[in-house]
Amino acid sequence: MKFTIQSGAAEKQRCDCAVVGVFEGGRLSAAAQRLDIAGKGFISALLKRGDFSAKAGETLLLHAVPHAPAPRVVLAGCGKQDEFKDANYRKAVAAAVKAARASGAKDAMVYLTEMEISGRDGRWNLRQAALAADDVLYRFDQLKSEKNNARKLAKIVFNVAGRALKSAQQGLREGLAVADGVKFAKDLGNLPSNVCTPAYLAAQAKKLSQPNLKVTVLEPRDMERLGMGALLAVARGAREPAKLITLEYRGGAKGAKPVVLVGKGITFDSGGISIKPAANMDEMKYDMSGAGSVLGTLAACAALKLPLNVVGVIPATENMPGGKAVKPGDIVTSLSGQTIEILNTDAEGRLILCDALTYSERFKPDVVIDIATLTGACVVALGKHPSGLLGNDQPLADDLQSAGADSGDRVWQLPLWDEYQDQLKSNFADMSNVGGREAGTITAACFLWRFTKKFRWGDYPGPWLKFMGASGCRGHGLSNRRQQRLHRPPRAVIDPLSDKSLR
Ligand code: BES
Ligand code: MN
Ligand code: ZN
Repeated sequence: MKFTIQSGAAEKQRCDCAVVGVFEGGRLSAAAQRLDIAGKGFISALLKRGDFSAKAGETLLLHAVPHAPAPRVVLAGCGKQDEFKDANYRKAVAAAVKAARASGAKDAMVYLTEMEISGRDGRWNLRQAALAADDVLYRFDQLKSEKNNARKLAKIVFNVAGRALKSAQQGLREGLAVADGVKFAKDLGNLPSNVCTPAYLAAQAKKLSQPNLKVTVLEPRDMERLGMGALLAVARGAREPAKLITLEYRGGAKGAKPVVLVGKGITFDSGGISIKPAANMDEMKYDMSGAGSVLGTLAACAALKLPLNVVGVIPATENMPGGKAVKPGDIVTSLSGQTIEILNTDAEGRLILCDALTYSERFKPDVVIDIATLTGACVVALGKHPSGLLGNDQPLADDLQSAGADSGDRVWQLPLWDEYQDQLKSNFADMSNVGGREAGTITAACFLWRFTKKFRWGDYPGPWLKFMGASGCRGHGLSNRRQQRLHRPPRAVIDPLSDKSLR
């Protein structure tokens, strides 16, 4: 898909499909009004008849609107005018792009981006439009022999007011770089675990190498030498060798402390000896989505040449049963020196992350943020709309919260209180790796907290199997609901627009 920006009058710019906004109650956006005047009231008459509700996210495809410079016009519902804010804007753009694609048009001229959104500017409008459009157009069909080439839409032109051209260009550039990172992460998540192995993740990381992005991969023998007993415990049952991948992006001042992003890279989580039930176990190929997020984020940082130092740390392994697999009750020594009684081998994410977090100390981080499909409990607590957030530094949590609000990738903070630590008591080691039935997301974070005493730290524990209706295989004759489930990388972390994010 090609995305460009233009500034022009809706009744004059020729295209295959013009997309204009309409509010509930029949109010027209400026572009819709221009088409309406040119068409001698065609659109307003239609609205008066009550043919279109204009709720946010609803669309109506019109053919042969009189005197329109396009054979197709998509009316994009924007909801009530006084409620036209971030969420409805994103909804309108996503739905409109979907409708334009479904219409059979080869290109679309989208006028939603010139609309006024309170508290936002052209740069934000374009970033969000690029992200919403790319998201809704996403398909994963690399592994199908027959690709769906029926859809012709190849170019989207976003319209903006002339004075906003420059900042809109900047916003589009940022939006597309982030969208590329998001797509990279989604593809890695969707790839099956027989393709996306730890070695595959390492190879993908290596591909990102460039002069200011250094990638290194540690092998199991290196981990042994370092004493990463917790990570190696998880890797024991697997035939695929574990990898510890680090990506060091140096775009900031030489001495500036880096942001370290740690991503869970379990390429398949069978549960290990504490094996999971068969139903939906295929979804555990997504258990490297944190790693995918980190890779996508680093790719975007490099593409945007962000003036920051950012390090990605990815512990990658399968979690498998087997004769050599770690067993419930086994006790291992982590890189930090603390001992862990592994009472449930399915609580493996925290085991690989704790060693990666300790390893992060060597980068003398400003902050460390982990991104992980850590517990099913998080989705139970929060549903699919926000990601959870925990951490040991409230100003950092506040920054992440507001960056999430700006980017539309919202988080909801859960308490990290000392009282919960009791649940991790072990009879035989410094701690257990599970904290019982109550507060599963919080006890997982409590576990990690014990490995983050030397830096400011934030934890995104999911939910990552976000159901994204448009992003899977619909229309490909495939109705597998799970193929439409994709995690959502934390765009907030690399939001260069938000001056609140990670200074
Ligand atoms: N990868 C899972 C968490 C998960 C489950 C993510 C479902 C996405 C969807 C994690 O390793 C796990 O198995 N967690 C256990 C923890 C428990 C054993 C304390 C869980 O959530 O049941
Ligand atoms: Mn598990
Ligand atoms: Zn897992």
